[in-house]
Amino acid sequence: MKFFIDTANLAQIKEAQDLGVLDGVTTNPSLMAKEGIKGQDNIMKHYVDICNITTGDVSAEVIATDFDGMVREGEMLADLHPRIVVKIPMIREGLKAIKYFSDKGIKTNCTLVFSAGQALLAAKAGASYVSPFVGRLDDISQDGMDLIDDIRTIYDNYGYETEILAASIRHPLHIVQCAKLAADVITAPLSAIIALLNHPLTDKGLAQFLADAKK
Ligand code: G3P
Repeated sequence: MKFFIDTANLAQIKEAQDLGVLDGVTTNPSLMAKEGIKGQDNIMKHYVDICNITTGDVSAEVIATDFDGMVREGEMLADLHPRIVVKIPMIREGLKAIKYFSDKGIKTNCTLVFSAGQALLAAKAGASYVSPFVGRLDDISQDGMDLIDDIRTIYDNYGYETEILAASIRHPLHIVQCAKLAADVITAPLSAIIALLNHPLTDKGLAQFLADAKK
């Protein structure tokens, strides 16, 4: 399973890259705003900065909601760097834009996916990645993992190559559950990735080993 980091924070991306387990980055307009990145030139430069830190795919989201606007923005984003993936929302115009980019060989990430039907459409349109939002489903008392399971079944039934990129991951258990359900990728905050490291018995065992080594 690939690990992406879900942030636009350069220091955190570098920290994750240095850990040696980072396969890519996802961003969205909210994450860019959180870093105070404003204005088209600054936003474009920030995507290039991210690409220069990581060695994997970097999802950059379009803001337009009409087909022509998405195509215009997506082409501009794709021109920035060969590893940019154009992130497009799961709406009618977005579906058409995904098909357009797929026909041109430009990678896409279909975002804001909350149902198996939406994921099926994204795959049929040729999305490279589909992003089901696990945590936001949990937030409204639906089990986000059921969606990952359903999409995995559907994609395997027909051999769709669209990668399941589990998003809106909130904690380390989400990551483990996604791995058990054979999601292709998870995108998570650095805190959730780091939390996978921790176990009290590891700390206790190490303290004992170090104490014994001094004897
Ligand atoms: O990048 C999209 C997704 O991961 C957002 O997560 O925590 O805002 O629901 P969250």
